Amino acid sequence: MADLAIVILAAGKGTRLKQERPKVLTQTRSKALLFHVLDSVSLLSPTKTVLVTGYKSEEVEVAAREYVKNAKLGLGEVEFVLQEEQRGTGDAVRAALPKLSGFCGEVLLLYGDVPLVKPETLHSLINAHKTNSATISFITMECQLSDSYGRVKRDAQTGEVLEIIEARDCSPIDLMIREANSGLYLVDSAFLKPAIEALEPKNAQNEYYLTDIVAKAIQEGQRVYGHFHRDTEELQGVNTFKDLRGINSTLNDRKVSALSEEGVTFLDSDTCFIDEEVFVGEGTIIGSNVSLLGMTKIGSEVVIEGSAYINSSEIGDRTIIKFCTKMDSAVVGEDAAIGPFAHVRPKSVFGNQVKVGNFVETKSAILKDGAKASHLTYLGDAEVGEDVNIGAGTITCNYDGYAKHKTIIEKEASIGSNTSLVAPVTVEQGAYVGAGSVITKTVPKGSLAFTRTPMVVKEGWSKRRKK
Ligand code: UD1
Ligand code: MG
Repeated sequence: MADLAIVILAAGKGTRLKQERPKVLTQTRSKALLFHVLDSVSLLSPTKTVLVTGYKSEEVEVAAREYVKNAKLGLGEVEFVLQEEQRGTGDAVRAALPKLSGFCGEVLLLYGDVPLVKPETLHSLINAHKTNSATISFITMECQLSDSYGRVKRDAQTGEVLEIIEARDCSPIDLMIREANSGLYLVDSAFLKPAIEALEPKNAQNEYYLTDIVAKAIQEGQRVYGHFHRDTEELQGVNTFKDLRGINSTLNDRKVSALSEEGVTFLDSDTCFIDEEVFVGEGTIIGSNVSLLGMTKIGSEVVIEGSAYINSSEIGDRTIIKFCTKMDSAVVGEDAAIGPFAHVRPKSVFGNQVKVGNFVETKSAILKDGAKASHLTYLGDAEVGEDVNIGAGTITCNYDGYAKHKTIIEKEASIGSNTSLVAPVTVEQGAYVGAGSVITKTVPKGSLAFTRTPMVVKEGWSKRRKK
């Protein structure tokens, strides 16, 4: 294949999305519309990529540059060009031409607001273009009478493409054509430049139509290939909130299907949201109402019972996440049990066989292998050693109103129920803390410590009171 350049049209404002941000930066569940497009085209290893911006161009440029850098996308030389006024798709490509001077090869033209295009589809367009020795190849799709897409007019005898007629310029008969232009083209650079420069805004919208280069190529005796693609969903653009909902739901379906094929069981996939980058190991079972977000990594044979929100966290093999767990930026080892109703906050790092039970909240808490906090506990800025048992109602008092302090509980220690550990404080290895204690000083290794007012018993007291 000759050199490939990409031109992404991203000047649109997106009026119907009623938002301040530029349309291509509209967020899908995981990332902006434009970033999906950048991801896909990066897999074609272009030598250069040009983004045509318009509305809030700087914002688009900053966001795109940052994304390309962070995701380490191979897009060749990345350049931005401002289309001052939006005078049509042909005018947008014209704005990009100076950035293509000196480039010789094929130019892939596509939109920044059509996020679901698969790299495979782009590859098949490139291959078809080559096989057909075409000057222009473009992807076509099925449409309905009411659709506003440009119609692909073909020769009745040969089936060859003749032109693309915009819906507004269609006769009632042309409008009945069921094949539409998707807006994705591969064009020979030597043809593209003069063809774009020759465009004229002679149509219902007084715009420069990119689509007019098709008829021009035919007039010049060049080969134009219309590559029909069955999956219209993939070619869907975003104009409205309804479109956006459709895109999100397709992204989720794709992810759930891919994971199902890799051996993950979803008990109720319609209620689960799984971000694109999430990894889930084989044999894992996911119940209803589960969101796995960000860079979450779930091991093999994990069970997530249901109603869980897990963001950018790692969970080891065979761990069970019981009903109603919220977890954010945490790491959990293997064979652990978390929940029900656990709140695992950022920088919680749990080892293997850790147990964090109902109504337990952790934050910046390291729980080493086999540590247990089974009920009603807060562990913040804490380090809990191997096989420590934390009784119900234990609280690390980590904040004195000014600063956070650390609680260290060394291995094999045992904290009695309803204990307050006033940090900074250490409970040394194997020590015991009696129930109901307020611990303010080091509990030495192997000792028992408790703070407790002696119990007072007054025999017959209640009978006397009634008299
Ligand atoms: C265009 C095609 C139509 C096709 C449809 C598919 C033309 C003339 N028509 O129609 O055949 O069926 O896409 O969706 O090309 N843009 C700019 N600058 C502009 C105009 C548009 O950057 O001056 C960008 C928009 O932001 C958008 C894309 O180009 O991402 C398409 O523009 P849009 O106005 O939606 O084109 P359509 O009229 O829908
Ligand atoms: Mg459109």
